[in-house]
Amino acid sequence: MTLWHGRLRGDTADAVMDYSVSLHVDRRLAGDDLAGSRAHVRGLGRAGLLDDEEVATLLGTLDAVEAELEADTFAFGPGDEDIHTAVERRVTELAGDVGAKLHTGRSRNDQVATDLRLYAKRELRAVAAEVLAFQEVLVTRAQEAGDVYLPGYTHLQRAQPVLLAHHLLAHAWALARDVDRLVATVVRLDVSTLGAGALAGSSLPLDPDAVAADLGFAGRFENSLDAVSDRDFVAEALFDLALLGVHLSRMGEEIVLWSSDEFGFVVLDDAFATGSSMLPQKKNPDVAELARGKSGRLIGNLTGLLVTLKGLPLAYNRDLQEDKEPLFDSVDQTRLGLSALAGLLSTVRVDPARMQAAADGSAVAAVDLAEWLVERGTPFRQAHAVVGGLVHDSIERHVPLAELVEAHPALGAEAVALLEPGVAVRRRTTPGSAGPEAVAIQLGRFVHRLEADRIRVTALG
Ligand code: ARG
Repeated sequence: MTLWHGRLRGDTADAVMDYSVSLHVDRRLAGDDLAGSRAHVRGLGRAGLLDDEEVATLLGTLDAVEAELEADTFAFGPGDEDIHTAVERRVTELAGDVGAKLHTGRSRNDQVATDLRLYAKRELRAVAAEVLAFQEVLVTRAQEAGDVYLPGYTHLQRAQPVLLAHHLLAHAWALARDVDRLVATVVRLDVSTLGAGALAGSSLPLDPDAVAADLGFAGRFENSLDAVSDRDFVAEALFDLALLGVHLSRMGEEIVLWSSDEFGFVVLDDAFATGSSMLPQKKNPDVAELARGKSGRLIGNLTGLLVTLKGLPLAYNRDLQEDKEPLFDSVDQTRLGLSALAGLLSTVRVDPARMQAAADGSAVAAVDLAEWLVERGTPFRQAHAVVGGLVHDSIERHVPLAELVEAHPALGAEAVALLEPGVAVRRRTTPGSAGPEAVAIQLGRFVHRLEADRIRVTALG
């Protein structure tokens, strides 16, 4: 028998229970549900709807239920549709008549929204803290990288040399935007919905502001219809996690490429690589591939929820029960991925010789030759044509570019020095650029940013 059976006659069909039950998913909201119930009970006490003894009995019973859940001795019954009804049923069993007062002035609609906000607040904060730890790994690797450089690519064609530190920090800055988004999402979702009731509030003298403060929320809902039907915070969280997943996926793709024999830029630590069941020689970058692959799932979770939400009239509809699985899944997968990829990155061995050899081809300094001409008065478009022509001739005639540069009347021996290994990257001196001086400044700025973000994330509560 369910808690809501009063209006109905006869048993609910098994197929209905099988289809609508969400206990297996929302059990993990138990702690948040208990927190919400405690605040609600105290609110009922302040409203004079429960006397002091009843408040004490209910709070004690909620503690007993919590102990059962923690000890895994809580016996779920066939009528327990979700964690909210399971807890209320058990409270009523243990506390008798007083238990029947727990749900006074409350609906599962405002209850579940508050539970999920408590969960999201805590978990997104934890994800943000893990992103900060991940960024810390990138910073450490960037500091260790010193002046090691590699080719920067556009169209996956070698374009210009960049410091390895610069490349690593590029990913770190993308993650800083993820932290920004997670913080903003938590700030926006920091709203209690208790007191909205099923959809229209209550005739009882409830004080949603006080309940919100009790639960540590920044404030209460403004509109009861919005409160019970709003899942913007879930959609936002799923977007934040999807885009974070896309960033991890792009890193994953580079690790796959870099660890291939073709690139040979990095060697994975054995603890973060996998073998092949058939091919004895294989060492595979599965973690990096999963970071890439699971981003599809994170995007799917976002897309699925948006489709669920788009046709819903106000206010609560049972469709909204479909909000939890994608959120829990995206949070879980993101946290697992951050941890595995951070481990991979902190242990991966870099091969500076391979990286630099790939960046030392004379053609990657082509734009430096053109800019050398520009500094001596040649319009850039003309300089571009001159150097492009030399690169073309070098390839066609199998003559080293340096020889052609030396022989060219506008270039000559001084310009040839630009083609020496490591010269081009040192010439990148503008703010935010890929050369050693600019990257040292960037690194300092990033470390400051990380410190500020750590304070922001900690301040979330
Ligand atoms: N398990 C439900 C959910 O997650 C709780 C709310 C049920 N409300 C209702 N009116 N049936 O949304």
